[in-house]
Amino acid sequence: MELIRSALVASGKTYRTEGISRRVRQITISAIKEMPLIASRVGGCVSLGQGIPSFPTPSHIVDAVCRFLKNNPDSGKYTLGPGMPELRSAISRYLHEQRGIVADPDGEIGITVGAMEALSAAVLTVVDRGDEVILPSPNYASHIEQVLLAEGVPVFVPLREEDWQLDIDAIRAAVNSRTKAIVLCNPHNPTGASFAERDLRELARIAAEHDLFVISDETYDFLVYDHGKCFSLSGMPELKERMIATFSFSKKYAMTGWRVGYVFASEGILDQMMKIHDATAICAPTLSQYAALAALDGTQDCVDDIRSALASRRDLACSRLDALADFFGYVKPRGAYYLMARYRVRGVDSMTFALRLLREARVITIPGAAFGPAGENHVRISFGGTEEEINEAFDRMERWLANNPFRT
Ligand SMILES: Cc1ncc(COP(=O)(O)O)c(C=O)c1O
Repeated sequence: MELIRSALVASGKTYRTEGISRRVRQITISAIKEMPLIASRVGGCVSLGQGIPSFPTPSHIVDAVCRFLKNNPDSGKYTLGPGMPELRSAISRYLHEQRGIVADPDGEIGITVGAMEALSAAVLTVVDRGDEVILPSPNYASHIEQVLLAEGVPVFVPLREEDWQLDIDAIRAAVNSRTKAIVLCNPHNPTGASFAERDLRELARIAAEHDLFVISDETYDFLVYDHGKCFSLSGMPELKERMIATFSFSKKYAMTGWRVGYVFASEGILDQMMKIHDATAICAPTLSQYAALAALDGTQDCVDDIRSALASRRDLACSRLDALADFFGYVKPRGAYYLMARYRVRGVDSMTFALRLLREARVITIPGAAFGPAGENHVRISFGGTEEEINEAFDRMERWLANNPFRT
């Protein structure tokens, strides 16, 4: 945990603490966002860091929003708190047709400011001070801060490093009377894993047995490679009263800057989450909700295009890493667009490794410790950038490593 905080020190930033709530003092900006900030001061860096896919928002979505903005006098106004009814209906249809999930658009779907707002509202809704939350780890960095913000206790349960799959026995062993929830991201950021259905069903059994909430982060639900399918917990009827599933338009439709996502939960849970949403956001941006509607109603070819471009980039990143096998080991990602590269250098923590790589080779990666203790001795590599960027980053990294930067 300390290493995560050291990113702030590395960036030269100090924070006022006087008068600031304990809740806020104990959280930090994730290293995912800090590394690009540090890089902006170094200059001339190429990024394998933050998960921003290179694609522009598809033109049919942009065109639809422009028409809406010009022609609809309500386009600049708030929508209903849980979101535009036509968008909630379109999501309900999508969930039913594509995922077999029955979701009432009026009571079980809420439109949020990205999946991020849905996730933080979910954690705040179910976690009280001192409650333990299981994070199969390495895990998405912001899940840690969300649990801390709710004054909960993150409990890191390592994934199996040989394939980054869930260690069900370890999860079972971590559950105790203080455990309140499990936060699970599938397909997985930062490892690129797609979890096995058998393990997910076992996880569901554990949640039901011990009365735990499952917060299912499905930001990358569309992004599984090699014709694989992503099994999702969110449609399991036995989890209905303990499931909060969050979804995003950011990656699927290249809409990271529009800030729109949604949550699916039973009405009793969603009603409570919407109190937080009302107090913090009022509603998701109207234009972005309209963009989301255009995305769902329009051609899905853009999603196939993004998936196949990312599949090629994954292969490129893997082949470049294979050429550096003396320096890195990794597990080939099956989903999302990240991988964890384990560097074969002893005695160097991931923050030091990533900062030296940044300053000396001008390549941005994310130190593995930002994703929980199990991420130490790794850097996260995102292959969301263009092939040119990926090649340039690996060319630089190869030259840097050829000079044996860690010789003693
Ligand atoms: C696992 C995960 N969850 C949530 C988010 C945030 O998604 P959104 O842009 O919809 O807020 C991200 C963004 O990178 C992510 O990787």
